[in-house]
Amino acid sequence: MDELSRRKMLFTGGALGALGVLGAASPAGARSLWTWAPSGSVAGKGAGLDPEWVWDEQADPVLAAVIERGDVAKANEALRKWTRNDQPLPAGLPADLRDFMEEARRLPSWADTRKLDAAARFTKKRGIYTGALYGLGSGLMSTAIPREARAVYYSKGGADMKDRIAKTARLGYDVGDLDAYLPQGGMIVTAVKTRLVHAAVRHLLPQSPGWSRTSGGQTIPISQADIMVTWHSLSTFVMRKLKDWRVPINSAESDGFLHVWQVTAHMLGVPDEYIPASWAEAEAQSRQVLDPVLASTPEGIELTDILLDIVAELDAGLTRPLINAFSRYTLGDRTGDLIGLDREPFWQPLISAAWPLLVAFREGLIPLPLVPEAAWTVEEALRKFVLLFLSEGEGIRLEIPDANRPS
Ligand code: HEM
Repeated sequence: MDELSRRKMLFTGGALGALGVLGAASPAGARSLWTWAPSGSVAGKGAGLDPEWVWDEQADPVLAAVIERGDVAKANEALRKWTRNDQPLPAGLPADLRDFMEEARRLPSWADTRKLDAAARFTKKRGIYTGALYGLGSGLMSTAIPREARAVYYSKGGADMKDRIAKTARLGYDVGDLDAYLPQGGMIVTAVKTRLVHAAVRHLLPQSPGWSRTSGGQTIPISQADIMVTWHSLSTFVMRKLKDWRVPINSAESDGFLHVWQVTAHMLGVPDEYIPASWAEAEAQSRQVLDPVLASTPEGIELTDILLDIVAELDAGLTRPLINAFSRYTLGDRTGDLIGLDREPFWQPLISAAWPLLVAFREGLIPLPLVPEAAWTVEEALRKFVLLFLSEGEGIRLEIPDANRPS
């Protein structure tokens, strides 16, 4: 590849990295009745209450009080100093917030170090696939989840997508990190901070006229059902695609990947009775909560556009067709249509034919001559994207918002 094309790819990689990390929020339209049984959860039992009506009893009142007292700046200043899992909470946190965080930072009793380790090794080995899937799959899918798109759009971060993307990358970076939940890692910190951000959003968004107008009757955003929708768009979706792509995964790796996401759900404040105990249970819950809610909204389409514009800015739009095509390949045409991705008659058939061969070659299943030349263009773009996706999150601080997107 000549130098110019390389540079183009590199820049596109950055934009894809940016695209990738939006993946974080939730829905409003069609919902099926909640019938998923707590017997399939990591708790093995529970009241079975519809999580549509459950938020975060511990975090929400604390964050509402912090905001109402005008303590957000003080809290954020202290939070900046908290970066490692094993670090004591910094001085200067308001007392109620500090007490909550001391509880919230504790790993669940069922966290299993060996499984977490298997997950980390898996992500290290398969980072190109998981990175591309979080980015171009989950990240773009979030704009087809109406509640997620609207919450993101009308919250403070919606006004500055580049910054928001970088912040959300922090979670993508930490969750795949070898040290994620080890003492020297940062995933406990990231998850607890995210839990604080979500609780703050629950207090703030109901005051946004734009959100209230479009929330479809939901009065408080980010219910536990919404969180599980997003959880599936990350974990269950990625595992499904890895299988579709015939990436070899042994059972220790598959269990480990599930486990890191189970622990993450717990650390984000999801009650254990909603966290699936197995991939089969996760699939069943995903079919119930995620699949039916995917829909098109003006906010989602605008967010997709903003994201693709960030890409276009970086390489004058030259590789946008490749991005559209790979995203359509990953998400399927239905979701591609919902978020307004262009159809790409040249790239789409090429990627559908070349990608499975590239995966097979990388896994040692077929010899090199069977891989078409164009597959390497796609792979190079993805590799750059994954590298940038991973580096994007470094040095980024998650902060409690004190306002909504200005209307
Ligand atoms: C913020 C991750 C679910 C809406 C964040 C942030 C992360 C994150 C890392 C911090 C980035 C930032 O401050 O911009 C996740 C994960 C989820 C999840 C891993 C589920 C597994 C949801 C859901 C919604 C949502 C279901 C809405 C329905 C938001 C909003 C913000 C946010 C509005 C704040 C943006 C702002 O700064 O204004 N989330 N999230 N998230 N999330 Fe989530």
